[in-house]
Amino acid sequence: MGLKGIILAGGHGTRLHPLTQVISKHLLPIYDKPMVYYPLSVLMLANIREILVISTERDLPFYQNLLGTGSQLGLKISYAVQEVPTGIAQALLIGANFIGFDPVCLILGDNIFFGQGMSGHLNQARTRTEGATIFGYQVKDPMAFGVVELDAAGKAVSIEEKPEHPKSDIAITGVYFYDKQAVGLVKTLKPSARGELEITDLNKLYLQQGQLHVELLGRGFAWLDSGTHDSLLDASNFVAALERRQALKMACLEEIAWRKGWITHEALMKRVQELGVNNSYGAYLANLV
Ligand code: DAU
Repeated sequence: MGLKGIILAGGHGTRLHPLTQVISKHLLPIYDKPMVYYPLSVLMLANIREILVISTERDLPFYQNLLGTGSQLGLKISYAVQEVPTGIAQALLIGANFIGFDPVCLILGDNIFFGQGMSGHLNQARTRTEGATIFGYQVKDPMAFGVVELDAAGKAVSIEEKPEHPKSDIAITGVYFYDKQAVGLVKTLKPSARGELEITDLNKLYLQQGQLHVELLGRGFAWLDSGTHDSLLDASNFVAALERRQALKMACLEEIAWRKGWITHEALMKRVQELGVNNSYGAYLANLV
């Protein structure tokens, strides 16, 4: 019982080198750790410990190899297949049994969030007992995203997927919190013109019910998605600059689990042995110990 988490990391990086046809782009490194660590760290910061990873049949063994049962992180991780990328909302159908009648947080495997106050925003969303919460972020190129228009009170007025003429510059980021209605609502959706079950259509249903909440991630907050070579490089450079400057790691999963008291000191030491200290990630953990 309680809030469940889903990471959607299937599909292929169509705007990337064909290398992503042989391995999921979400397993590629963003600076010093695999991309999927970043969304997983967001779920952990939201205190979500039961997590479903969705990817292709081909890629799931790599994720299983990387993350296992999750017990080394104080988590319970399970896996499910999405063979054809037919929409983000489909993740909720694939995960229907896993979700049961619980609320769920869905996060896209290529979304990276960083900023002070993220835990607070996540907590705000997780403690809402009804409706959906999406996270808005001001961008220069809203046409590339789902876009939300807000009224003066910050309430959502409209949402559109990749509009030609955006009504605002607030993009909808790839983390979504839903109450227990979500699976039932997705079942009523029809595929869009591009043949996908659109997450924006699900959010529209919540909006029509007057149950769509928007949390705005403000200035000084970083939201990056990593769908192109440039954005992959930007994300790596961003993480590198921050980690070098502060000597603190972003999305260090073992550190989060340890600080939250989900794993013991001994378990952390065991991870150090497994990872070794000849890489900066393992060395950082060794330093914590
Ligand atoms: O990143 C935020 C944006 O994500 C939102 O603003 C949009 O409203 C939302 O539709 C989505 O837009 P994208 O064009 O970025 O979605 P994309 O198809 O690139 O998929 C995002 C991630 O989800 C990517 O890592 C691949 C994965 N995915 C996508 C689909 C459609 C799957 O694993 N399965 C899928 O069926």
